[in-house]
Amino acid sequence: MKKKVGVVVDIIMYVILLVQMMYVFIGNNLHELLGIGFFVCLIIHLCIKNWWAKTILIKNKPASRRFFDIITILLVLTIIILMISSMGVSRFLFTWFHFMGSADLHRYLATAVLTLGVIHGGMHGFWHAKKKKLAVVGIVIASVIAFALGIFGVPFLNRQKRSVEISYADKQPEATIEWQGNKPLVVYFTRMGNSNFEPDVDAVSGASLLMSDGEMMGNNQLLAKMVCDITGFESEAITLTGEKYPSSYSDTIVVAGDELKAQARPGVEPIDVSEYDSIILIYPLWWGSIPMPVATFLEDNDFDGKTIYLIITHGSSGYGNTISEIEELCPNAKVVPGASIYCEDIPDAGDQLIELLRRWNTGVN
Ligand SMILES: Cc1cc2nc3c(=O)[nH]c(=O)nc-3n(C[C@H](O)[C@H](O)[C@H](O)COP(=O)(O)O)c2cc1C
Repeated sequence: MKKKVGVVVDIIMYVILLVQMMYVFIGNNLHELLGIGFFVCLIIHLCIKNWWAKTILIKNKPASRRFFDIITILLVLTIIILMISSMGVSRFLFTWFHFMGSADLHRYLATAVLTLGVIHGGMHGFWHAKKKKLAVVGIVIASVIAFALGIFGVPFLNRQKRSVEISYADKQPEATIEWQGNKPLVVYFTRMGNSNFEPDVDAVSGASLLMSDGEMMGNNQLLAKMVCDITGFESEAITLTGEKYPSSYSDTIVVAGDELKAQARPGVEPIDVSEYDSIILIYPLWWGSIPMPVATFLEDNDFDGKTIYLIITHGSSGYGNTISEIEELCPNAKVVPGASIYCEDIPDAGDQLIELLRRWNTGVN
């Protein structure tokens, strides 16, 4: 009976882990509730398999048993840290908990748990398998797939399928900042306004779009609006003069990849920065680089002696190569990286922006 319960609990844990990775489809609240379910299953699992703890110190074990012990200890430790980080990034059950609140860290830990979990489960298969070499190959392939799913698959799904609706009034940053000295110009680039979108978001395939009070909005557009609301700065959008990007997300990825390879410089509407000592550039990461229209904007203007503050949004890869790219395009400018914001965290980035702008305002980079 105990064994049967153990098997059922193990299966439930793997299913929960996989469903948890599909965060974009199940939404935040179910994700958090399932996280609690996973934790409960873990306790049951540990109670049922408590014999294992007693065998850790046994000497003269076969190498496979030693390997299993190491993986299992790592797995339990990683799950515990994952649980703490889950509370840190909680938006529903543990909003009062403010420790390890990094979405990136949470995803990396979840990937580690899935990968170690696959190896852990695979070892049971290994002991029962007649063809040991084949079992090892199976474990390696399954763990590589689990790792790739966490590192690449989940962020990809998030970027492709995420469609978030917000009310700007709920997200609008509360504080304002009196800027000392000359005000910077906020310049942003976003897919919105530069793509052939249908007026109806449901008609946009692989939308990955934000709806603010029923209107489609780009992630970077929303950040630019927040920065301007906090500071009273003016903003300008980098806008294509020629052909726009396709409405479909995946087609845009292809076009942007071709542009990057060719180091294309798509035409953009002129933006006059000559009156400003500094700009705040808000842009998305595209293929680990700056979008080529941003390169056009930087090349079209003279940034000698000016400061370029950077805020980037991304789907998992932070600044990518963009800091050095911007430094190369504007060799005589002072480039100051400020924040790299994961696309899912954008609607709640108000406090982060206030803190960042306060730092910049006091000359702390
Ligand atoms: C063409 C394209 C390429 C992208 N490439 C990456 C990438 O390499 N790494 C990444 O983390 N996110 C990538 N993303 C995700 C965007 O950086 C992210 O969703 C951004 O917040 C979109 O901003 P927007 O809504 O203002 O256009 C890409 C998005 C697009 C459309």
